[in-house]
This record gives sequence, C-alpha cells and structure tokens, in this order.
Amino acid sequence: MTFVLIAIAYLLGSLSGSLLLGKLRGVDIRTLGSGNAGGTNALRTQGIRFALGTVVLDIGKGALAAWLAWRWLPAAVQPAGVYVCALAAVVGHVWPVFHGFRGGKGAATLVGTLVVLWPAALPVVLAVWLLGLTLSGYVGLSTVLAGISLLLLSLLSHADPARLAFAACAALLLVFTHRANLARLRAGNESRFERARLLGR
Ligand code: G3P
Repeated sequence: MTFVLIAIAYLLGSLSGSLLLGKLRGVDIRTLGSGNAGGTNALRTQGIRFALGTVVLDIGKGALAAWLAWRWLPAAVQPAGVYVCALAAVVGHVWPVFHGFRGGKGAATLVGTLVVLWPAALPVVLAVWLLGLTLSGYVGLSTVLAGISLLLLSLLSHADPARLAFAACAALLLVFTHRANLARLRAGNESRFERARLLGR
C-alpha cells in the first residue's frame, strides 16, 4: 500500500496545471518567458486567469496526494510515509512523467501538501514569501526564502524527525529547482515581478 500511494502521489504531481491548461490553449509555456511550467511564468506569459487556474490545480494536486496518503497509509508508516508521499508529489511536478520529465519548480505543489499536513506553517511561509517579494521584487528568490523558512520553522518548533526531514528535503529541492533563478540574480538579469503590468493583463 505504501509504494502504491507513493506512486499515486508522484503521478498526481506529474499532472502539471500550466501544461494541461496550455494544451487547451495550444501553448506550452516551457517555450516562453522563464521556461518554467508554473504559476509565475503562467502569469508572465498568459495572464492572470491562466495563472490562477495553474496555481489552483497545482496546489490542489499536492493537497490531494497528501490527503490520500494521510487517509490510507497504514499507521505503522505514519507520519514519515505521508511526508514521503508529499515529496513524491513535488518530485512529480518537477519531473513529470506525463510531460517529458520537464515540469515546474514545485512551490505550489508543496503549498498544497502543507494545507493538509502542516497548515500552521502556511501563514509563516506566506508572510516570508510576501515580505521577500515586497522587498526584493523577485518571485524566485522569495520562494527560496520561504522554503528555507519552512526548515527554520521546523527547527524552532522542535518538529518531529519526519517533519524536520520533510522540511529539509523541501527546502533543498526548492534551492535546487531555483538554481537558474539564483544564477540569474548573481548575474543581475533575473526578471522582476512587475505587479501593475502583470496583474493588469
Ligand atoms: O515557483 C516558481 C517561481 O518561484 C519562479 O518562477 O518563472 O520566475 O522562474 P520563474
């Protein structure tokens, strides 16, 4: 049962919101903007409605994968097994079997898993993300900082080892998936979030 639920979580994660919506519109956003199959690049290249649809689908699949694991995993492998399933959903989003293993950066899917597994972390993560975005203007950097804040939160709140390991893996994965954003930041050519232009589309 555990391996079945890990596989289901990975397959759910592999259903990329932006790439599925893009098929309806005849567009693959991996060929546009930053090349990322996620909400920010959806907003950048397709506008607010497409981006909202992307984020809702990506958060929803993360939440569903975590909920299925929480509901059906045997008690003997809880809670660690649930966090493994949550990470499998994020891995599916980043390397999706249905889209040639080229997906997004995993942030919205991770948020979906937190909705079910650790809702108390959401205000902290969201506050760090918003503060980072307001001060720096860079979505990618703010997402990495939010991921690191999840790890710090697990340390400061003396989380159980399974949750601590989950937060550490999630933070590392976000740093890894945002490595191109961080390289562009260092080179000075990362694109800023232009609220008026992007939200006004
Ligand atoms: O979650 C993705 C976001 O943090 C960065 O997206 O398109 O600017 O690489 P993008």
